[in-house]
Amino acid sequence: MLELRNITAGYDAGTVLRDVSITVPDGAVVALLGPNGAGKTTTLKVASGLLGTRSGQILVDGEDVTNKAPYQLARHGVCHVPEGRGIFPSLSVTDNIRLQAPARNFKASLGNATSVFPRLGERAKQISRTMSGGEQQMLALCHAYVSDPQYILLDEVSMGLAPKIVEEIFEYLHDLARQGKSMLLVEQYVAQALKLADYVYIMDRGTITFAGEPGEISEETIMNSYLGSLAS
Ligand SMILES: Nc1ncnc2c1ncn2[C@@H]1O[C@H](COP(=O)(O)OP(=O)(O)OP(=O)(O)O)[C@@H](O)[C@H]1O
Ligand SMILES: [Mg+2]
Repeated sequence: MLELRNITAGYDAGTVLRDVSITVPDGAVVALLGPNGAGKTTTLKVASGLLGTRSGQILVDGEDVTNKAPYQLARHGVCHVPEGRGIFPSLSVTDNIRLQAPARNFKASLGNATSVFPRLGERAKQISRTMSGGEQQMLALCHAYVSDPQYILLDEVSMGLAPKIVEEIFEYLHDLARQGKSMLLVEQYVAQALKLADYVYIMDRGTITFAGEPGEISEETIMNSYLGSLAS
């Protein structure tokens, strides 16, 4: 179980998250929704150690990992697929996977990645920035397959992709869920995210405004949480 308890965090410019508590149970998919600027990316950064907390705690399987470095959280099985792809654009597909994979496990990881994403196998030597957006996103998602994490943080992995590719990406996410991975999923495709999720949190202006199961959430709640912040 991954737990954020009463997190306050932000940047030099000011506090962004206030008293944010989120639980990702083992094997569960948790969707984190909310309007632009709500603090979703900031939350994922805190959960993977990229951003420190001002107060509150992060626990992985009951162990306190608050303000540990990203590599230490990675050792605890936390994998962050960041906003905007998170690959090394000037490196080949193979070299990107080499950096994602545990050092001793590179060959097996490459085999695993190319069996999940055959298209990447065909493009092993291609410099990744020259691939299509969908192919680049698959390469970013490889991380969740080759580093064998238990907790996967996904930040808008469908952003800017054609509908057919978005469908494909969601198939991969369903596949990870079937494998029993725990996920904290930030998504602009709300309906798709709710289909995949076991639990939902809605965030607005740095605080959690709803926590529950997808069945408990009305369209009105979603609309209000997105439009409410636009109106004010
Ligand atoms: N590096 C930074 N330095 C200063 N302020 C930042 C930084 N990153 C984000 N912020 C601010 O923190 C707030 C929350 O941003 P965040 O990126 O977490 O939102 P988000 O919910 O992911 O939004 P979006 O849906 O647009 O991706 C915003 O007001 C943003 O301007
Ligand atoms: Mg964001």
